[in-house]
Amino acid sequence: MSIVRINAIKVPPEQAPELEKRFAARAGAVEGSEGFERFELLRPTDGRDTYFVVTHWRSVADFDAWLAGASFQQGHKAHGSQGPVSTESELLAFDVVQETSAGS
Ligand code: HEM
Repeated sequence: MSIVRINAIKVPPEQAPELEKRFAARAGAVEGSEGFERFELLRPTDGRDTYFVVTHWRSVADFDAWLAGASFQQGHKAHGSQGPVSTESELLAFDVVQETSAGS
């Protein structure tokens, strides 16, 4: 079963459009990374100010390798060149224990 790593990023409401703009223009480097399975950017709709960047990986080693490698740097270029849009970030870690989807 996959492993999940979620980057929870706190974004002031006035910065939310800029965050989404940066993700819309993201590098797309993660797609080519060994063991990468899927990614979702989740926008909060319950009045909170924390976006979730949800990523699924084949293994912890694959995630760690991406985090330590050039692909991660490439995927976060705007952070360095245009400054941060978030005020806090927290990495959450999970194992997928069970999963299903419509039609399966
Ligand atoms: C200080 C911590 C972090 C902040 C503030 C942050 C913020 C961002 C932003 C604004 C982007 C859009 C692209 C850009 O701006 O260049 C991005 C891309 C991305 N972030 Fe982060 N991030 C952080 C760490 C992480 C971590 C630990 C993960 C692991 C789950 C992660 C997952 C991703 C992914 C998958 C992309 C898309 C990369 C691609 O297209 O290749 N981020 N992040």
